[in-house]
Amino acid sequence: MLVEWLLIPLAYLLGSVSSAVIISRTLGLPDPRQEGSKNPGATNVLRLGGRRAAILTLLGDAAKGLIPLLVAKSMAVSPPLLAAIGFAAFVGHLYPVFFQFKGGKGVATALGVLLGFAWPVGIMALLTWIGVAALFRFSSLAALAAAVLAPVYVWFWLGSAELVVATMFMSTLLVYRHKGNIERLLKGEEARLGGAKQP
Ligand code: G3P
Repeated sequence: MLVEWLLIPLAYLLGSVSSAVIISRTLGLPDPRQEGSKNPGATNVLRLGGRRAAILTLLGDAAKGLIPLLVAKSMAVSPPLLAAIGFAAFVGHLYPVFFQFKGGKGVATALGVLLGFAWPVGIMALLTWIGVAALFRFSSLAALAAAVLAPVYVWFWLGSAELVVATMFMSTLLVYRHKGNIERLLKGEEARLGGAKQP
C-alpha cells in the first residue's frame, strides 16, 4: 500500500524536528547548537539548562523514533519497511531538513527506534547506557557502548536480518557522529556528566 511507504518520508520529517532547539527556545535557554558541545541533544541541554529540559529533550527525541514505528506496526508493515521507517527517523535527526541538515548525534532517537522495533531491545540498550554512564560518567561512552551492542540485542530478540542491518547502519552513523567525543575520550578531555562545561 502506497500510504505505508509514505511513512518513510514522514518519519524523516518528524526526525528533522529538533527537540533540543525547540525546548531550549521555549524555556529561554542558550541555543545548544552554539554553546557547550554545540550538539543539539539531551546531554548538551543538561549542561546548559538542567535536568528538566534534558529529560524533555530526551523524551521528545525518543518519541521521534518511536511514534513512526508504532504507526507502522499498527498497519502491520513488513520488516524491511519497518527497518526503513526507523532508519529514516534516525537520519532525520542527524540531517534535519528544517535545520540546514545540521543535526545531532542520534542517541535518543535511536533509543526510540529500538523501543519501536521491540521494547525489550530498547530497554536493553537503555540499561547498557545507564550502566556505562554510572560507571564512567561519560554520556558519549555510554552511547557508544549501547550503539555497539544494539545490533546484537536486535538479533538476539528479533532475529530479523533487516532490523539488524538497519540497526548496524544507525550504530555506524552514531559512532561516526561521535568522532569528536572519541578523540576527547582518548585524550582524556571529554566532559563528564555533571562536570564542567565543554570548551
Ligand atoms: O547524546 C549525545 C552524547 O552521546 C554526547 O553529547 O554533548 O557530550 O557531545 P555531547
